[in-house]
Amino acid sequence: GKYRVISTKAMPGTRWIRLLTDHDCRVEICTQKQTILSVEDIVALIGDKCDGVIGQLTEDWGEVLFSALSKAGGKAFSNMAVGYNNVDVNAATKYGVSVGNTPGVLTETTAELAASLSLAAARRIVEADEFMRAGLYDGWLPHLFVGNLLKGQTVGVIGAGRIGSAYARMMIEGFKMNLIYYDLYQATRLEKFVTGYGEFLKSNGELPVSWKRASSMEEVLREADVVRNLCLSISLHPILDKTTYHLINKNSLAKMKKEAILVNCSRGPVVDEVALVEHLKENPMFRVGLDVFEDEPYMKPGLADMKNAVVVPHIASASKWTREGMAALAALNVLGKIKGYPVWANPNNIDPFVNENSPPPA
Ligand code: GLV
Ligand code: GLV
Repeated sequence: GKYRVISTKAMPGTRWIRLLTDHDCRVEICTQKQTILSVEDIVALIGDKCDGVIGQLTEDWGEVLFSALSKAGGKAFSNMAVGYNNVDVNAATKYGVSVGNTPGVLTETTAELAASLSLAAARRIVEADEFMRAGLYDGWLPHLFVGNLLKGQTVGVIGAGRIGSAYARMMIEGFKMNLIYYDLYQATRLEKFVTGYGEFLKSNGELPVSWKRASSMEEVLREADVVRNLCLSISLHPILDKTTYHLINKNSLAKMKKEAILVNCSRGPVVDEVALVEHLKENPMFRVGLDVFEDEPYMKPGLADMKNAVVVPHIASASKWTREGMAALAALNVLGKIKGYPVWANPNNIDPFVNENSPPPA
């Protein structure tokens, strides 16, 4: 191969490797370290000549790495992730490196995990499983692990982009929930879907569902307070930047219904985790499903002891199909830049380059 492409981690499937090796690239996969690579490790990997890198969300792609990549003749970097808060896009642009991400292929997989966490929290699945395995089940009781019914309740979505909208559809279609969402952009297709589905239910003699676009995030939270017994399952799907850091904090938690469910599959720092632990302690009926944490791989003190929290290790995009697709898309991003091909095989025509043809993050 004429071009040297590095992947900082082994990635699922072989399609991504074939894509590169079929097109004049030789691929080097970092296998020496199974742990998360440091900036120094990656500088050493890049070496004197490197045309492109596929990196991971656990790595700090800033000034140092983009300068090293640029010096080695590299013009392309792709995160194997849709989120790119680990990438300093301005630094990449400064060094002439294109930054790709992997939107689209993970939308449904991530939304399904958000739905799973919503159900696990609502029905106390993990707590009940632990109880069962501990041999504590002593016969059926009317009060045993009573949780929340989702049907007819309102699902709140903060950030109704691809993932948030897919999640909303699952909850609405699956559980006949009403929708309240907050987003800077109008989710027209989602609104149309809810309207159409509501009409279908009505024609079927069932209670219809409705949607509402909130004018603020607080409105999503407030809405829950005026309706008794409303289970507000708020799922967070925004990107992480300075405008969404600690978007959910002590004050916003206080606005939520005492029996609400909060699900976060976006990025940990969107939620003030210390405030969340306090809130969980003070409100035993409040429940959370978390895929991401402020200081991954760690949890804030106390979180692991909370029965009203379901926690999983950042696995929202972890289905075989999606992970292989993310790897292939990351490889295509890098290959497309190196070879000067147009962007290929991009599901839904989403532009996977974050510093070209698309506005920089706010
Ligand atoms: C995973 O967290 C991603 O951003 O793809
Ligand atoms: C999914 O691809 C998203 O970025 O919402």
